[in-house]
Amino acid sequence: MHSLHDEKGVVKLFFENYSRQEIVAKAASSVSGLCDQAFHDGVLRLLYHLYFSPLALSCPPPPSLRLRVLGDLIKELETTGQEVPELAYRLHGQLSSSPRAASTDGHVVYQLTPVVSVPVWENRCLLAADTTGLRTWQAGKALLDWYMLRPDGLKDRRVLELGAGLGLTGLALCRLCQPKSYSITDGHPLVVQMLKYNVNKTLELVKDNLVMEDDAACAEFVASAADLTDLPEASAGPPEGGDTSDPGGDLRTTLDGTELTVGKLDWFKFTAEDARKLDIDLVLTADVTYNPELHEPLVRTLSLVLDNVQPAPQVLLALTDRNEDTTARLMRELASQGLKQRLLATPANNQSAFQMDEMSKVKMFDITRLEE
Ligand SMILES: C[S@@+](CC[C@H](N)C(=O)[O-])C[C@H]1O[C@@H](n2cnc3c(N)ncnc32)[C@H](O)[C@@H]1O
Repeated sequence: MHSLHDEKGVVKLFFENYSRQEIVAKAASSVSGLCDQAFHDGVLRLLYHLYFSPLALSCPPPPSLRLRVLGDLIKELETTGQEVPELAYRLHGQLSSSPRAASTDGHVVYQLTPVVSVPVWENRCLLAADTTGLRTWQAGKALLDWYMLRPDGLKDRRVLELGAGLGLTGLALCRLCQPKSYSITDGHPLVVQMLKYNVNKTLELVKDNLVMEDDAACAEFVASAADLTDLPEASAGPPEGGDTSDPGGDLRTTLDGTELTVGKLDWFKFTAEDARKLDIDLVLTADVTYNPELHEPLVRTLSLVLDNVQPAPQVLLALTDRNEDTTARLMRELASQGLKQRLLATPANNQSAFQMDEMSKVKMFDITRLEE
């Protein structure tokens, strides 16, 4: 059987992590030692998953990433004296002349189990379009890890997520943990718009049953790659923007049996009346405390929810402790609004389903009223 034996791992890395050195090193080590034909086919199989598979066509990764991976892969093959498939050169040439070659926005497909994935459109810039919400953060992944290790912890729960960003945590939890209902919210209109795009993309993937495994189609591709005349579009543009100042009304749908709502919830505008309308028993929020200016409205929102939803929901907050002073200020804000925190966990890197840089700095708290 001529195949890139570690191909799934390589592709998984590619989609999840954007670390081109690792992808190329892993790809190169997994094909080295194979006979020439197997080596050649292995590289083609990799190109299939990165470019031509139904999943890659539906969720194209950022052009800048594809370009760097192709460039590094070609360089690696050339310097080790291996044959570079003609197709790799053509893809590289087409992309490098595209006006969007440097664009950092595109899809990351988080493969959570062999059959469950969540596609998330992200922009890897730390601050894109003046918001932190266009990429997925460490604490959001840690919160997801927390429930992946406790899959029954959300069964039949009614969840509200605050400052959800692009929705990986919520979408994955709906797919893996069967909450009864889940409301994914964020305060930034553009983020909410992208969040809705990601929900629709996830629904599309579920409907079309798109997963990474498609060995027959991949083998067919490898056999006919030399005759390929048409290349896929070099770089699909970002999802239709529309009016980014207006995210529109709530999106309501069902995902794997969970009633899912997506909408705007801005902590600065949240009221007691809004809280009374909520039908929830759990609030989740991750990586939303990096900016001390947001502490007061965030804590007020939590406080309003705790006081106005009966019975008071459980509140779980995950943060990345990047700066002692910022964390201390958050604790003071909680105390000044009559709330207290209890440290639940400092998740360990080796328990994570993701590649983490700063995971050891993630802390999970539950938040309650002081008198409880
Ligand atoms: C660092 S991101 C974290 C996103 C996500 N929770 C994660 O872990 O990947 C912070 C999020 O908080 C949102 N946010 C900031 N201010 C907000 C506000 N006033 N109301 C609601 N969300 C807000 C941002 O739009 C952004 O999506």
